[in-house]
Amino acid sequence: MAYRAVEIIARKRDGLTLAGDEIRWLIAGFTDGSVPDYQMAAFAMAVFWRGMTSDETAALLDAMERSGDVVRWPGLPWPTADKHSTGGVGDKVSIPLAPAVAACGVAVPMISGRGLGHTGGTLDKLESIPGFNVRLDLAAFDAMVRSIGVSLIGQTDRLVPADKKLYALRDVTATVESIPLITASILSKKLAEGVGALVMDVKVGSGAFMKDRAAALKLAQSLVGAGTAAGRKVTAFLTAMDRPLGTHIGNSLEIIESIDILHGRGPADTRELTVRLGGEMLRLCGAASTLADGEAQIAAALDDGRALAKFRALVTAHGGDPRVCDDPQGVLPRAPLVTPLLAWQDGIVQRMDALQIGVAAVHLGAGRNTAADTVDPAVGFVLAKKPGDPVRAGEPLVHVHARTAEQTTAALAELRAAIALDRAAPTLLPLWLDVVTDARPHE
Ligand code: URA
Repeated sequence: MAYRAVEIIARKRDGLTLAGDEIRWLIAGFTDGSVPDYQMAAFAMAVFWRGMTSDETAALLDAMERSGDVVRWPGLPWPTADKHSTGGVGDKVSIPLAPAVAACGVAVPMISGRGLGHTGGTLDKLESIPGFNVRLDLAAFDAMVRSIGVSLIGQTDRLVPADKKLYALRDVTATVESIPLITASILSKKLAEGVGALVMDVKVGSGAFMKDRAAALKLAQSLVGAGTAAGRKVTAFLTAMDRPLGTHIGNSLEIIESIDILHGRGPADTRELTVRLGGEMLRLCGAASTLADGEAQIAAALDDGRALAKFRALVTAHGGDPRVCDDPQGVLPRAPLVTPLLAWQDGIVQRMDALQIGVAAVHLGAGRNTAADTVDPAVGFVLAKKPGDPVRAGEPLVHVHARTAEQTTAALAELRAAIALDRAAPTLLPLWLDVVTDARPHE
């Protein structure tokens, strides 16, 4: 059936509900070029103002998922699961989590993104390991998952092309901040991987895409609703991003922290997120009977070396130098200058603002402002203190890893503005703010 784009746009503009077939026709036309950008931009703005019903969002998601190649896992001996984070500062959880989950008998075919703006990207971090190749085609991705149960690659041109085109259009037409459009964009890429279960980490706070809890909860509900309608098991956690996660920020520095987690060590918050998000992936797949059982399995895999062994296999399969597992400092690129920011008074660390620290890391070269920028794998920050920690004047708060003295001076000034010291205890968001799931309730 042929429709007219102008009529579909007008009906959405007027607040009417569209049929699934109309949405599918529009997305197919936009993907093959028969629906021009200006009509799609008008449609995105109509959706921005009028929203979408859950049925409309489900149709949009389905149409986008199927706009290109889709991956499926017939005959795979393990269930499949993945995790997606809406992005933050110091969020390297995918790197220890994927091998830990695979070590517990659930395959993780993860198609990941690059950093943009103040949020880092898993692919940039992995590429700081010498030789690590994330640009595999889908046949190589399939073979690696079937062989070792895990692979992490970048989006190919043929995977969800509708999202690539639509996201670029939304970016320049002020239509990114729409819950149904975000839902379809995020989930279409994850569902095209063919996984049966998905755990979403929706970040909340200054360093997050969603700054406040109410908006993040709406997004979490929409993601769970649409993912479930698409036949997958989905849980969304709301977690804190008012301060950076863990202690290391920057590409190779985050690999160092990830390897620490894979050795059963590392900062408490990064480990807690890895354990719970991974535990929920096991529960959703039926590989754990309860969340507590799943968490115990992931914790054991981190502590007894199985997760690290899986990571070693992953690095080797992707062409990376596996010695990174034993001697990350010796293998990873390192910045020539390491300079501490010293506490300027006694007190308690009140605030380490995630957004300001993320922006400072981009200025240092750890992130990118536009998709075409390249990142410096070596530079970044290592936090010596976290919010809530007591500190004495003259003690290091953060170590700046930089290429030049000018970069160091600029970063120290930006960090000084992002950090507050006080006598009183800080008011921080709890690490775990909420959970939305349609699968059996958590015990
Ligand atoms: N991330 C995505 O992949 N898509 C959006 O629309 C927003 C964030």
